[in-house]
Amino acid sequence: MTIGKRQFQLQIANCLLSIANKKVFRNSEFLSFIFSIQKNMRKKAKTALITGASSGIGMALAAELAAQNYNLILMARREELLADWAQFLQTEYVNITIKVVVSDVTQFEEHMAQVKEVASAFDTLDLVIANAGVGYNTIESHNTWEGTKEIFDVNLLGAIATIEAAKDFMLAQGYGHIVGISSMTSVRGIPQVSAYSASKAGLTTFLESMRTDLIDSKITVTDVHPGYVATPMTQENGKMPWLVSKEKAAQLIFKAIRRKKARLYFPWQMLFLNYLARILPNPIYDLAMRLLRKKIAAFRKNRN
Ligand SMILES: NC(=O)c1ccc[n+]([C@@H]2O[C@H](COP(=O)([O-])OP(=O)(O)OC[C@H]3O[C@@H](n4cnc5c(N)ncnc54)[C@H](OP(=O)(O)O)[C@@H]3O)[C@@H](O)[C@H]2O)c1
Repeated sequence: MTIGKRQFQLQIANCLLSIANKKVFRNSEFLSFIFSIQKNMRKKAKTALITGASSGIGMALAAELAAQNYNLILMARREELLADWAQFLQTEYVNITIKVVVSDVTQFEEHMAQVKEVASAFDTLDLVIANAGVGYNTIESHNTWEGTKEIFDVNLLGAIATIEAAKDFMLAQGYGHIVGISSMTSVRGIPQVSAYSASKAGLTTFLESMRTDLIDSKITVTDVHPGYVATPMTQENGKMPWLVSKEKAAQLIFKAIRRKKARLYFPWQMLFLNYLARILPNPIYDLAMRLLRKKIAAFRKNRN
C-alpha cells in the first residue's frame, strides 16, 4: 500500500516531534516549531464520504484516500465488512479519523439525514463519492420488475440522495467536490442490461445538469465512467476486455479528483469505444449489439 505525500509529511513531523520530545530539545523553540507544523497538518486533513465502501471500488477508494490523508466516512449496509476495513486502514494510517456509518441508500430520507449528520460531526465535507451500486449479477432477480426497481433505487435514486444531501452541506460551507460513479454502459443502451444501462445514463445526465447549476460555485462535479473493474460485481463475468484492478481504478479516480475533471473514462480504450458508440449509426450499432446480446445470454444461461 502506497503512502500519500501528506501522510508521509505528517509521519516526518511526528518523527521529528518524538525526537524533539526526548532530552536534547526538551522545552526548546524547536519543539514548539515542530508541534505547530503537526497541528497545522492535522487541521488541513480533508474529509471524504464514500458510499459502497464495503466492497470493490469503494474499498479501494477508501485506501487511496486514506493514503492521501483524508479523514473517511465509510458507508454501506454490511457493518462487519465496513468495520474490518476501517480498522485495517486505521492501523495503517494513524493520523486520520475514520467513521463507519451503516446506511442503505434506498432508505432515501434516512440516508440523507445520516449524510448530513455525519458531515456535521466532521465539521467539513470536502469530497463525496456516490459509488454504491448494483449490477445484474449482484442482485437476485434480474430482468424482473423487482430487479429493475432495485437497480434504479440504488444506482440512480440512492446516488442522487447521497449527492443531494452532500450538496446541501457543501453549499452551506461554500465548497466541495461531488463524484458519481457511472459506467461506460451509460453511453448507449446495452442489451440485457437495460435497467443498469439506463440507471447509469440517468446518473450521468443528473451529474451534468448539476455541474452546470454549480458552475459559478466552488463545488466541483466529476462523472466517472469505468470500463471493466475486477470486483465482486464482475467476478462471474468470465473474460472481460481491458480489465482494470480496483486499486488502479481508485488511483485513476483520485487523479481525476485532484485535477477537478468533469468526466473520466478509463481505461483509455473505453474512451475510444465511447466515442465510437456515439457516432455509430443505428443499423451498425444494432449489428454489434446482436453479438453482445448472444454473449450475455450465454453467460446468464451458464450462471443459472
Ligand atoms: N466493477 C465494474 O466493472 C464497474 C464498472 C462500471 C461501473 N461500476 C460501478 O462502480 C460502483 C462500485 O461497483 P463495484 O464493482 O465496486 O461493486 P461491488 O463490489 O459489488 O460493490 C458495490 C457496493 O455497493 C454497496 N451497495 C449496494 N447496494 C446498496 C444499498 N442499497 N445501500 C448502500 N450500499 C449499497 C455494497 O455494499 P453493501 O452490500 O454492504 O451495502 C458495496 O459496497 C457501482 O456503482 C458500479 O455500478 C463498476
